[in-house]
Amino acid sequence: MRYVPGAVGFKARKPNGAQPGAQPLVLAVPKGRILDEAVALFARAGYDISPVLGKSRKLVHDCGGLRVLILRSADVPTYVAYGAADIGVAGSDVLDEQGVDLYEPLDLGIGRCRLITAEPEHRPVDDRSDIHLRVATKYPLLTRRHFQARGITAEIIKLSGSVELGPLLGLAHRIVDLVETGETLRQNGLREVETIAHISSRLVVNPASLKLRSDEISKLVNRLERAAVVP
Ligand code: PRP
Repeated sequence: MRYVPGAVGFKARKPNGAQPGAQPLVLAVPKGRILDEAVALFARAGYDISPVLGKSRKLVHDCGGLRVLILRSADVPTYVAYGAADIGVAGSDVLDEQGVDLYEPLDLGIGRCRLITAEPEHRPVDDRSDIHLRVATKYPLLTRRHFQARGITAEIIKLSGSVELGPLLGLAHRIVDLVETGETLRQNGLREVETIAHISSRLVVNPASLKLRSDEISKLVNRLERAAVVP
């Protein structure tokens, strides 16, 4: 769903009569390696959310004029869809896999990586042969779609992490997973077979928040748009 910053002219009040903006906007960000990039991006946009980088186990931080929630990346769309967060930073991999209907105004240009297929360097498989191909992944829908489009029947084995272990232990012939530096593949004796998609993080917005707090959200989107690193 495409939303054009500044194009929304709502001046709505909250149902309880409170002025919009009385509470900080709630921002959901994924923990993990993307957090550093997200903090740098928000800093360039004028929001200092660096306290989220501390060693504390706190999952909610009030900083930079925002209330920041630290979540598993796969949970960001859920929090935003249900309105528990007004806005979020979500990978295009997660959004495509979950198919959640959210406003997606901006490619933030961070969290760049690729969704790929890979297999053991020394045990390649001919996927056009009669082999009963097993593929381990955190992305069952995107994996099924990819192999179906190629006319290949594959059994999808859903994992939650450390997917590279699958082929090493004979659980699967191939994996579908993210690759950024390629180091995890290399260290586990896997080689890339093909790229399925180029991934980056997107700003997602809860549709009700967009109406109720359009001025604040438009301002944030505009600032992030100027700060985003888009090639
Ligand atoms: C991601 C991805 C790969 C790895 C790729 O895993 O699933 O395993 O990073 O990065 P690289 O190409 O730079 O080595 P993550 O670190 O998120 O952990 P997970 O496997 O538990 O999901």
